[in-house]
Amino acid sequence: MDRRHVLDELERRAELGGGDDRLKRQHAEGKLTARERIELLFDAGTFEEVDKLVTHRCRDFGMDEQLIPGDGVVAGHGLIDGRQVFAFAQDFTVFGGSLSETNAAKIVKVMDLAVKLGSPVVGLNDSGGARIQEGVLSLGGYADIFLRNTLASGVVPQISAIMGPCAGGAVYSPAITDFTVMVKNTSYMFVTGPDVIKTVTHEDVTKDELGGAMTHNATSGVAHFAVDDDRECLALIRDLLSFMPGNNLDDPPRAPTTDSPDREDDLLDRLVPASPNQPYDMLDLVRTIADGGYFLEVHQHFAKNIIVGFARLDGRPVGIVANQPAVLAGTLDIDASVKGARFVRFCDAFNIPLVTFEDVPGFLPGTVQEYGGIIKHGAQLLFAFAEATVPKVTVITRKAYGGAYCVMSSKHIRTDFNYAWPTAEIAVMGPEGAVNVLFKRELETAADSVRARAEKVAEFREKFANPYIAAERGFLDEVIQPRHTRRKLITALKRLENKRDKNPPKKHGNIPL
Ligand code: HXC
Repeated sequence: MDRRHVLDELERRAELGGGDDRLKRQHAEGKLTARERIELLFDAGTFEEVDKLVTHRCRDFGMDEQLIPGDGVVAGHGLIDGRQVFAFAQDFTVFGGSLSETNAAKIVKVMDLAVKLGSPVVGLNDSGGARIQEGVLSLGGYADIFLRNTLASGVVPQISAIMGPCAGGAVYSPAITDFTVMVKNTSYMFVTGPDVIKTVTHEDVTKDELGGAMTHNATSGVAHFAVDDDRECLALIRDLLSFMPGNNLDDPPRAPTTDSPDREDDLLDRLVPASPNQPYDMLDLVRTIADGGYFLEVHQHFAKNIIVGFARLDGRPVGIVANQPAVLAGTLDIDASVKGARFVRFCDAFNIPLVTFEDVPGFLPGTVQEYGGIIKHGAQLLFAFAEATVPKVTVITRKAYGGAYCVMSSKHIRTDFNYAWPTAEIAVMGPEGAVNVLFKRELETAADSVRARAEKVAEFREKFANPYIAAERGFLDEVIQPRHTRRKLITALKRLENKRDKNPPKKHGNIPL
């Protein structure tokens, strides 16, 4: 055969993957193929494939008869919104996308290149796990990837999409990466599947209940996004990357905006209800101040009492962390603390300024929380905010009580600009709780205890439930009118553009995990 035709033939076989029948089955299941996914992920025509002709080296179980160029993973690099990104897509049509020694080496190769060149890595996972025919060689391949994931963490952004099965130890690579997107109905993640669970614990559970997209988005918090299909998944990854720099030494890309930095919105003046116990939706605030009202919420279905995600202010990407008074009154519990801490650390690692909106009555009380370790988990959020050296700006909209005041990016833990609305209440605890502690005996013996109590609560509220004591001490830089919030934040972030701050030299801190 003509030598050029040899190449054509090899490429044709690589592109055919596991063959027409398996490709049809992939489509019938509502999934795109690895190559179709790569095409949609990257800017049109920019993807360059590496190791397209790699084959596995297994000679057992008839594997020497089944050599498919590429060996079940499409790997390479291309442009997303004009910026360089590395990616791999497991091809379920080739041995179920299972991970062989050689296929792991392809993934490791693009990861090493990505770190060397300072570009994000996107992994599109769709695999039956370790290639069973290869035994420990495939296990070694996984461990090689886990090491790369760990070393790349905080150096280049890593995003995992789960677009099919992801079982066994394979789940640990996505778990180490920064963000995990799961496709509803076609993807699942678990360490051991329903059959093993039935044998060991006698529990009956379906694959979807055990490790489907909503399980990991709403219950375990392992995944950060749930999407309806492959196309939405790939579009989301492109959007997510637009908020991030290529690596930890770059700044996130600024996007042009037509939204005026001076835009005011009277809605904010009416956002906080007159009654301190009445909820409101903090998302209204976030969307009102963001460029074009756009907020990419991360972990939307998990620990809804805290909101985290990305927005832009005058074109600059920011990470938003906000208590949500509409859920659990905005208290901090274990899940909210862990969710917040992880997001804060991501932003800090990748030079994304942090904007915090605070309305928190404290940590959630109760045995469930205490036995579950709210102390150490709450400390994670405190540690993350305190350790962060990126520009930090906080706005207290209403309650800032107790330890939660300190934790939520207070002045004392190196926040650069701290603002409060006139509706802010800053105290060790809410007026009712404070009166119960301070005047317990007095109220027990009062002739009209209800009235006496109400008077004490009013007195306490008058004295502490405002921002002015904190402002007198300089713990707040300014009390601002709510409608000015966008302008104030944009000005603050502009001032902080060249912020330099460092932590003491150390191997690494010991965040209370
Ligand atoms: C080799 C595999 C494979 C694997 C699937 N295939 N998994 N080949 N190694 N791990 C092959 C099948 O033989 C089949 O080949 C094709 O892929 C499609 O698989 P089906 O079973 O037909 O597909 P489906 O019904 O959709 O089921 C998908 C599946 C199932 C649920 C993923 O294949 C499965 O349970 N696979 C094994 C999962 C597993 O236990 N993996 C090991 C996990 S432990 P043909 O030729 O028929 O198309 C692990 C350790 C990692 O990964 C440790 C890291 C620390």
